[in-house]
Amino acid sequence: MIKTNIEGALSFTNDADFKKAFSKAEEALEHVKNGTGPGSEWLGWRRILAEPNDAMLEKIDRLSSQIRIQADVFIVCGIGGSFMGAKAVIDALTPVFSNRGTEIVFAGHHMGGWYLQQLMEYIKTPKDDGSPKSVYLNVISKSGGTLETALAFRTIRKWMHETYGDEAKERIIATTGPEGGILNQIIDKEGYTKFIIPDDVGGRYSVLTPVGLLPIAVAGVDIQTFYYGAVNEYQALQNSAEELLKYAAVRYIMHEKGMAIDVIGTFEPELNSFIGWIQQLMGESEGKEGKGLFPVSAAYSTDLHSFGQLIQQGQRNMMETLLVVEKALTSFIVTEEKDDVDKLNYVAGKKFHEINSHALMGTTQAHIEGGVPVIHIRMEKLNAQQLGGLIYFYELLTAVYVYMLGINPFDQPGVEDYKKAMFKLLGK
Ligand code: PA5
Repeated sequence: MIKTNIEGALSFTNDADFKKAFSKAEEALEHVKNGTGPGSEWLGWRRILAEPNDAMLEKIDRLSSQIRIQADVFIVCGIGGSFMGAKAVIDALTPVFSNRGTEIVFAGHHMGGWYLQQLMEYIKTPKDDGSPKSVYLNVISKSGGTLETALAFRTIRKWMHETYGDEAKERIIATTGPEGGILNQIIDKEGYTKFIIPDDVGGRYSVLTPVGLLPIAVAGVDIQTFYYGAVNEYQALQNSAEELLKYAAVRYIMHEKGMAIDVIGTFEPELNSFIGWIQQLMGESEGKEGKGLFPVSAAYSTDLHSFGQLIQQGQRNMMETLLVVEKALTSFIVTEEKDDVDKLNYVAGKKFHEINSHALMGTTQAHIEGGVPVIHIRMEKLNAQQLGGLIYFYELLTAVYVYMLGINPFDQPGVEDYKKAMFKLLGK
């Protein structure tokens, strides 16, 4: 189960305020559980864990095994909630420097022409042995009409039909809402394999549907373990949500004190994309009606040499949340050197994880002393099971905390404004 440590934030509040905020968090949790808060028609991310769909998991497992045998490149084409969760989990759980197996690449998450052109050139370029690359495509869009995704899909789809002819329809998998939308019309016309995003699950809450599960499975992650990690966390939090409520309460207190920023950081580089997923989940859920903490992602210790200065001594308007992994992924150590020319023997024999943990503790201490409340979110190990749990933990945390602010965590009305202005300029 995910644990939280709020010690580093308690000196920035008092008992009475904490108790008040904690009972507000309890009330908000009841609204989530009973479906009595705003946007309650979007609580399907809980339903899918209360009633796990094993048939869906098996179908995805089967298809992904086939793709892993046949594909050199698997393109995931989607934006926002339609790709960030998959990227977060794949980056966390798959090796960084390995060219074994099916390569996962992303498209449709922006409109950079140079990126897409390079991607097209890359898939057209034969492998080292001169044979053509085998490409599969998963287009993911709940609405089925998001411009970034649709433009990349049009480009890649055209090439796939030209290259593979009739076989293209087996190589293109579409994940979308049950009905409606242009993507559904294309699927009906072309006969692509379709996975459904349930109506009651919003984009950024959809990692544990085929949106995230298919790309994650193709990347070689055991989705049964991953999914059931989330189911276990769901059950644990149904019994006792104290850890989560403490965090929600502190975040709420800091928001009410007028803080503007939550720096969400990690010292584990494997979790950098995961922080990006949290940033999107929280940012799109809480940033409404003039409210919300700006979730800034921090990749430590890299960013200590970037905006670490600003966190330590800049405007005092921020709190910090650090994702902590307790057990080392590796026992890789610093070696001893006889002449010690670089004067590093003082850490010789220590695991990198231990040194990194000291950096985490040192940073926590320095930031608290510098006036930044710090919360730790702790997972025991970085693996599929725990990561599934962490996903549900954050989904529930977001819903509870945003209910505390009195707003709907599941819509994103502001996103339409840039689209309206852009479409007008494009003459749509
Ligand atoms: O959380 C959300 O709903 C958004 O981030 C969407 O996932 C994003 O806008 C992509 O939308 P769609 O899947 O409809 O293309």
